[in-house]
Parts: sequence; C-alpha cells; structure tokens
Amino acid sequence: MRIVLLGAPGSGKGTQSSLLVERYAVPQISTGDILRQAMADGTSVGETARTYVMTGALVPDDLILDLVEERVVREDARPGFILDGFPRSIPQAEGLDDMLDRRQWRLHRVVKLDVPKKNILDRMTSRRVCPGCGAVYNLMTKAPQRLEICDVCGSKLIQRQDDTEETVRKRLNVYESSTAPLIDYYDGRGLLTIVNGDGPVERVFAQITSVLDAALQGPNGQGPKQQEPGA
Ligand code: AP5
Repeated sequence: MRIVLLGAPGSGKGTQSSLLVERYAVPQISTGDILRQAMADGTSVGETARTYVMTGALVPDDLILDLVEERVVREDARPGFILDGFPRSIPQAEGLDDMLDRRQWRLHRVVKLDVPKKNILDRMTSRRVCPGCGAVYNLMTKAPQRLEICDVCGSKLIQRQDDTEETVRKRLNVYESSTAPLIDYYDGRGLLTIVNGDGPVERVFAQITSVLDAALQGPNGQGPKQQEPGA
C-alpha cells in the first residue's frame, strides 16, 4: 500500500501516520522527520535544510526528491509506505509520479486531512515532542502524565523550534501557496479523499482506515474516489 497524507501543518499527519504504520505494517516516510534527524546529526543535508526549516520555508525540491528516492527503495518499504509531508509542491508531486512510474508502482490513495485554520494555531503552539523517542503530545488534548516528561521514555519534552506562532503563520502561508494546489492535482487523477481531521484522533483514524480499506479492495487495489460526509 502506497499512500500520501496531505494536510496543513498541524493537521495530524504525523499522529495518524504512526497509527497507520501499526495497522498496515508499512513504514511512515516523513520528510520533516528525515530533515530534523539530518539537522541533529549535523550532516551537509541537515545544514542546507536548517535555514529553510527554521523559517518555515520549503526545502528545495531537488534535495527532497533525492531524500525520498533514497528512502523508498529500502527493504522495509517494499510492501509500501505512508508519505507524510511529501509531496509538498507540484514539482515534488511530478517527481513522485516519475519515481513510481520508473518502478511500475501504483499510488493507492491520497488522503487530505481537513482542519479549520483557527484550530491549527492552537494545536501547533501547544504541541510538545520527545527528543528521545519522537512521541508527540499536546498540552491541550494529549498531555503527558507528568508535566513535560515523556510517558514512553522519560525524556524531557521540547517544543519544536518551528512551532512558534510567527513561524507557524509562515508555514500556513507556504502551505496555501505551494501545497494546497496538490488537492486539485490529485483530485484530477481520481486519487483524492478528503477526511475531516477535526475531531478525536480515534475518529479521524477510523475514517482514514475505512477509506484505505476500500481503496485496497477496489479494482487493481484502487477503489473509487470517496468524500467523507461533512469534509
Ligand atoms: P513537517 O515536520 O512535515 O511539518 P508539517 O507538515 O508542517 O506538519 P507537522 O509535523 O507540523 O504537523 P502534523 O500534520 O504532522 O501534525 P501532528 O500529528 O504533529 O515539516 C517541517 C518543515 O520541514 C517544513 O516547514 C519544511 O521547512 C521542511 N519540509 C518537510 N517536508 C518538506 C518537503 N516535502 N518539501 C520541502 N520542505 C519540507 O499534530 C499536531 C499537534 O496536534 C500535536 O500536538 C498532536 O498531538 C495534535 N493533534 C493531532 N491530531 C489531533 C486531533 N485529531 N485532535 C486534536 N489534536 C490533535
């Protein structure tokens, strides 16, 4: 199964991806996570990406396409993958098409998480992440049991440096100008399903899995286009 999770910053792509990984036994490929790891490791890719990530701009398409191409060919991605935060521009989507075509691979579905803009800012500024194991929390909706301490590994939680209000606003603008055009791009290819991402995590997950299960059962593993009620 190969799917794309599309959505504004903070729409819940990472949260849902980590649940989908367990359900479908395919890896999550998050370009944001790959870039943050490269920055933490101090690699040349990380150093190139740093200014873009810290200011909420998009990292250049060529660099991102190279990173994804390198990742999708690994053994664990053979049964499929969940692309989280990629593609993020029309050139990246075209690059992905090319990458898939060359291997005669199919993209099964693109799920776009819809969350009202007013809720996004609250979600992002109250997000905390664990630098040890990557667990994601939210001070308003998914607080850790002990203040600022990871329930899973006990590390002290941090706020992502690009989760300040100013940078989040910039990221939302970048999403509107560069990433939102992908909605029409994938709709035109009959691959898009819009899911209402504004509700309890479990409810959003149930909506996504019903879409993906149907897509996997459809002809050639690609079911009909669906639109969730209220999306
Ligand atoms: P990236 O890390 O991909 O950031 P993003 O797309 O902006 O998405 P986020 O990780 O911020 O949010 P999310 O949708 O995963 O939400 P989450 O589940 O955490 O990218 C960072 C930067 O890297 C970019 O700005 C760019 O510079 C660069 N970059 C990355 N990919 C790139 C690419 N392809 N091309 C170029 N540049 C690239 O949830 C958010 C919060 O909400 C959490 O606290 C969570 O607990 C909470 N939450 C989740 N679901 C719910 C719910 N249903 N109800 C209430 N709260 C919820």
